[in-house]
Amino acid sequence: MNQDQAHQLRHLSNSLVSHSQISRERVSRVVTIASGKGGVGKSNFTINFALSLMELGKKVVVVDLDIGMANLDILMGTSPKHNLWDMIREQKSIWNVLEKGPNGLEYIAGGSGFQQLFHLQDEERKYFFQELEKLHGYADIILIDTGAGLTLESQQCHLSADDIILLTTPEPTSIADAYSVVKILHSQNTELSFQLVVNRVSREKEGIEVASKFKLAVQSFLKKEIKIFGAIPDDAAVMQAVLKQVPFYISFPRATVSLTLRNLAERFVTGTAVSQEHKGIKGFIRNFSRLLRS
Ligand SMILES: Nc1ncnc2c1ncn2[C@@H]1O[C@H](COP(=O)(O)OP(=O)(O)OP(=O)(O)O)[C@@H](O)[C@H]1O
Ligand SMILES: [Mg+2]
Repeated sequence: MNQDQAHQLRHLSNSLVSHSQISRERVSRVVTIASGKGGVGKSNFTINFALSLMELGKKVVVVDLDIGMANLDILMGTSPKHNLWDMIREQKSIWNVLEKGPNGLEYIAGGSGFQQLFHLQDEERKYFFQELEKLHGYADIILIDTGAGLTLESQQCHLSADDIILLTTPEPTSIADAYSVVKILHSQNTELSFQLVVNRVSREKEGIEVASKFKLAVQSFLKKEIKIFGAIPDDAAVMQAVLKQVPFYISFPRATVSLTLRNLAERFVTGTAVSQEHKGIKGFIRNFSRLLRS
């Protein structure tokens, strides 16, 4: 068998496996992870939240939209064969770029070492969304990790998502930048569902205080209701796991931070913490296309 035939066979078997796993009942809820300031813990949250959702029986796909940084690969100690950029540039099927991380976590890598920012041509963006739409019915939850701040692509993703999990630390600079994110996004779509997470708190009380003040500020200045999803402790297990390149949920399952994530995932799947109406990946792409036209 030559290389081309082997490639075609792999492609075919990937498609068959994937199609057999598509369920019409699945909504495939799209959840983006956002922050104003960088380095507040988005990527660690994304991976470990995905692992805890999987433990609850949810099918999760993580998409790394922090193009060029390869943060997720480093955190998981994986070296993916393909990435999002290959998918778009080489018009590969999404099934060919879906990689497996620890505990079988399925993800699409952002790739590394790119000089250019993720500024897509219209055709490329269209292809990206056409492939992403194939996840409809495949995953229960699609978690999209983004880089610091708001790029055009991440902004459009947040504006189209079912839920935006907004991370901040208790630091005033991080809070101020998170507030700017809500302000900018809310000015473009008043229907967004924000779930606030305060990361790296020293005590739970601190997290509740920060979150309540934030919620109040958004309420009074922007006339917008946001939800408080929870607080995550500052835990040495996170840095140790980063150094080991094994997610803390796997390397330190009994650490307070892992138990907190488990609790957040439970609240998330039982729907007590998040919006009830889900547009899913199809709604996500519909919204996105509308944004492109406007
Ligand atoms: N709950 C926590 N407790 C202790 N340290 C933490 C916690 N969350 C994150 N960190 C520290 O913050 C660092 C940055 O985390 P991470 O890479 O997840 O941030 P990020 O928001 O994805 O950054 P970027 O904006 O650059 O993508 C981690 O390597 C870890 O050292
Ligand atoms: Mg990151």
